[in-house]
Amino acid sequence: MRALVTGGAGFIGSHLVDALLADGHRVCVVDNLATGSRVNVNPSAEFVEADVRNLEELVEIGRRFTPGVIFHLAAQTLVARSASDPLRDAQINVLGTVNVVRAAIAAGSQKVVFASSGGTVYGNVERQPVPETQPLNPISPYGVSKVAGEHYVRVLCGQAGMANTILRYGNVYGPRDIPASQHVITAFLHALLKGDRPVIEWDGEQAKDYVYVGDVAAAHLRAIDAGDGEAFNVGSGGEISVNTIFRQVCELMAVSVEPLRGEQRPGDVRRFTLDCTKADRMLAWRPATPFADGLRQTVDYYCRLADLRRQREATPTPSH
Ligand SMILES: NC(=O)c1ccc[n+]([C@@H]2O[C@H](COP(=O)([O-])OP(=O)(O)OC[C@H]3O[C@@H](n4cnc5c(N)ncnc54)[C@H](O)[C@@H]3O)[C@@H](O)[C@H]2O)c1
Repeated sequence: MRALVTGGAGFIGSHLVDALLADGHRVCVVDNLATGSRVNVNPSAEFVEADVRNLEELVEIGRRFTPGVIFHLAAQTLVARSASDPLRDAQINVLGTVNVVRAAIAAGSQKVVFASSGGTVYGNVERQPVPETQPLNPISPYGVSKVAGEHYVRVLCGQAGMANTILRYGNVYGPRDIPASQHVITAFLHALLKGDRPVIEWDGEQAKDYVYVGDVAAAHLRAIDAGDGEAFNVGSGGEISVNTIFRQVCELMAVSVEPLRGEQRPGDVRRFTLDCTKADRMLAWRPATPFADGLRQTVDYYCRLADLRRQREATPTPSH
């Protein structure tokens, strides 16, 4: 099938692109490189630098590439930034999503798959793990934008007779994430590799659902022709505290460091674990990577990257 991936130069999107190509699909990536990078994009994919806020351009790309399925991952992803600039967040995440669905309709696509966020759309919930039937009650503008995006995808696709699936990810971790994402595992690794002391926010006992990026990419492939009109949690089904993650990262890197302590992030929830049994039942998807294995792969990746960087810096540049 022909698959268009918005945000395909980013962390999760680039893994999805690799998985789609490995599965024999033709792929076009649309990304404005705000946080993504050209080097993440598999050379077998077509790449178009474009902004999801530009409807005309999206329609033009859609008409030319004629995707059967559009995976919409491009977004402003920072909860804190959504609090300081909710207008920009809504422009990218809400209006950008409306644009992507309209471009999908204009292109005659069969399906839109939307990247939502299990960690923010439900808000603070007493009973864990959280099933998809839990009322949506976001506590950050980013969470609001994802809820709005979900509704626009469902309603606009429904009106056009186009299939759609919402995937609500847990906290995704793995290779190619960047420190600017402010994701805790990536932040710890980057600080330790630079010789800095990592910062643990709040009291570190906030505990969330961490899911490996390769497993998240796999869930998208299952959603190509299943789960129409449904929302699915895509997580590990378990929770790990930030303090535990810090200990495990330090163990794997064989370092002993006293962390710095920071404030609670605005809009951060205390706990979330996603009940992923619906995805198992309807998409035949379940997380395949145990946290210890995924963390080891992630640590190895960032250590290799740091070694390469050091080697490059140590190699004298030829003078003319
Ligand atoms: N990483 C997580 O833990 C997580 C959890 C839940 C949901 N999500 C969602 O998954 C998706 C991918 O997130 P990610 O972690 O890979 O982040 P990312 O920042 O690596 O990827 C987002 C991509 O979108 C691109 N982009 C941003 N604004 C754009 C615009 N206006 N037009 C076109 N492209 C634009 C960026 O350049 C980047 O390549 C996002 O929708 C995010 O909200 C991520």
